[in-house]
Amino acid sequence: MFKSGVMRFPDGFLWGAATAAHQIEGNNVNSDWWRAEQAGRLPHRSEVACDSWNRWAEDIALLRQIGLNAYRLSIEWARVEPRPGEFDQAALDTYRRQLEGLRQAGIEPMVTLHHFTSPSWLADRGGWRNPEIVARLANYADRVARQTSDLVKWSRRPDALVSMAFALWPMQAWRWWSPIDQAMAHVGDWLWQGRVLDRALPALDWIGVNYYSRNLVGWPWPTATAHDPATRTDFGWEIYPQGLYDVLRRVGQYGKPVVITENGIADADDDQRPAYIVAHVRQMHRAISEGVDLRGYMHWTLLDNFEWAEGFEQHFGLATRDRVLRPSASVYGRIAGANALEE
Ligand code: BGC
Repeated sequence: MFKSGVMRFPDGFLWGAATAAHQIEGNNVNSDWWRAEQAGRLPHRSEVACDSWNRWAEDIALLRQIGLNAYRLSIEWARVEPRPGEFDQAALDTYRRQLEGLRQAGIEPMVTLHHFTSPSWLADRGGWRNPEIVARLANYADRVARQTSDLVKWSRRPDALVSMAFALWPMQAWRWWSPIDQAMAHVGDWLWQGRVLDRALPALDWIGVNYYSRNLVGWPWPTATAHDPATRTDFGWEIYPQGLYDVLRRVGQYGKPVVITENGIADADDDQRPAYIVAHVRQMHRAISEGVDLRGYMHWTLLDNFEWAEGFEQHFGLATRDRVLRPSASVYGRIAGANALEE
């Protein structure tokens, strides 16, 4: 039990985990990424991934076992619309059963409609560069919404809650005293984040933040990044919890609800993940106490999965692909269950 100095979170705070369809479902045979994997244009193949297309009920059981009250999952466009204008009702029904299963388990679903992969027919037509994407995406989103909106609050209209998740890694000067590094960080921030955020955020109902680390920039480019090699993840990313606070303060200025849609660590041994979670949760509490309307935290990720160009070599899971929970899952579950962190 927590004794003294407890950091409480607002009532109803969402404590969840996040996944993406292509990374866990397996056999997404109609997507552009699958096609590139099969053609050997990518170093790894996703194949059966975590087989979550068949084992989703076990994934829900894992979420329950950890004690989470939310789950961010994605719907695979290529499954739902394998050919232009042709919708696969059986696939939609499977997603619907999954969403019902989550609700029955008392877990709030948060649905992503597009997580990197597209149907290969869309890619053949120029993908996101073809202006046709606007109508195509709207049509797909409409079809999914019609069949799931009674089950999903976080992504539907008209009662709000539509958003985009942004990878927000603050750009900072490698050498704080260098005017050149400062200028590079400033320009890099504008190019990579500022110009997009200022245009996109006013249109959204809430803001999704994907935060993993920061980017240190300086001259000559690319520079060595972190100062202390001991604070890196298996992936080589610097562990920098303060950056989450910085990002939350930044997006908090738009006065909209914010959800951390991804934050996590590649750590096969699970010896860094517990402290990583605690340190980031502490920064979240700091941001909330300074007025940021933070509503939830979706840890990346529920179980080790297909990590894109790294294949199955990076382990971001609270559980293994065999669905065995790591010790960090109980650290996180304890925070979620108490809706609080011990100071
Ligand atoms: C992506 C995930 C990916 C994670 C770790 C995120 O930005 O959305 O798909 O697994 O980074 O690389």
